[in-house]
Amino acid sequence: MIYENANAKINLFLDVVGRREDGYHDLKSCMQTVSLSDTISAEITEDVPETEILLTCSDKNLAADEKNLAYRAAALYLETAGITNVRVKLHVEKRIPLSAGLGGGSADAAAVLRLLNRYFKNRLSHEELSRIGGKLGADVPFCLTGGTCRCEGVGDILTPVTTGPDYTVLIAKADGGVSTPEAFRLLDDLHGDFAHYTPHDAEKIYKALAGGNVHALSHAAYNAFEDVILPIHPEAAKLKTFLLDRGAVTALMSGSGPSVFGIFVSDVRAEVCAAAIRKMGFFAAVCRTVG
Ligand code: C5P
Repeated sequence: MIYENANAKINLFLDVVGRREDGYHDLKSCMQTVSLSDTISAEITEDVPETEILLTCSDKNLAADEKNLAYRAAALYLETAGITNVRVKLHVEKRIPLSAGLGGGSADAAAVLRLLNRYFKNRLSHEELSRIGGKLGADVPFCLTGGTCRCEGVGDILTPVTTGPDYTVLIAKADGGVSTPEAFRLLDDLHGDFAHYTPHDAEKIYKALAGGNVHALSHAAYNAFEDVILPIHPEAAKLKTFLLDRGAVTALMSGSGPSVFGIFVSDVRAEVCAAAIRKMGFFAAVCRTVG
């Protein structure tokens, strides 16, 4: 049995700056890997009569079939690397909330690609993995690279960013999820073809990160999806306020939501706040950024 961690991501900055002809959107985003993770385990048998991928998942709300990104990642890896006559038995132990803006599906896909490439002795280069990752989902290339990245294009043009020490993040989520295509549609309704849209200043976040001062992040953190998602997910808006009231240096929605995260300088405050959120019946996880 071999294992691979699939780390969630948060967006410290996320602006949607244009709509492309293919329907996708141009982004300016700062993505950050966090220690909250799923675990992928795999049992691989070679020289079997037929190639077979089998998938199980600890969360029964997630389809464990060929629609699952982890399954699709395994199939695309084997096809691209020209590997046949193997049985790949995958299990996804889910800890990252679903449809939350935390990149859980993309993280699982990236972890499957890494795991298979490790098993098959790096048959594909990092560039090839990123290329096939991009076919699976816009966030998969970032999940393959990890750390802190400036992400542009549809999220596939990545530049690693140097940052200060890792810090504590509390991720919280009320019930319900957001469909990413639906969130983009809501932004389209708000901004039309983005011709008159004035992008927010992305550079402030990189200056704040370079300075290694988490307090400076509060003036730079931004998520364009908050305008369209928080009004229809009032509990997410309440959780954001709750995080700030309970000592978060800054709080922001992640990705297309509805999860929100707070950055804490005190681990004790983060744990106390997480316990209070769990008492409300919501998801809360205290984790660390992974540089
Ligand atoms: O690439 P992924 O499958 O994660 O994207 C989900 C959906 O989000 C896409 O089908 C598209 O509607 C939207 N999307 C977008 N622009 C991006 C990334 C995603 O419009 N840069």
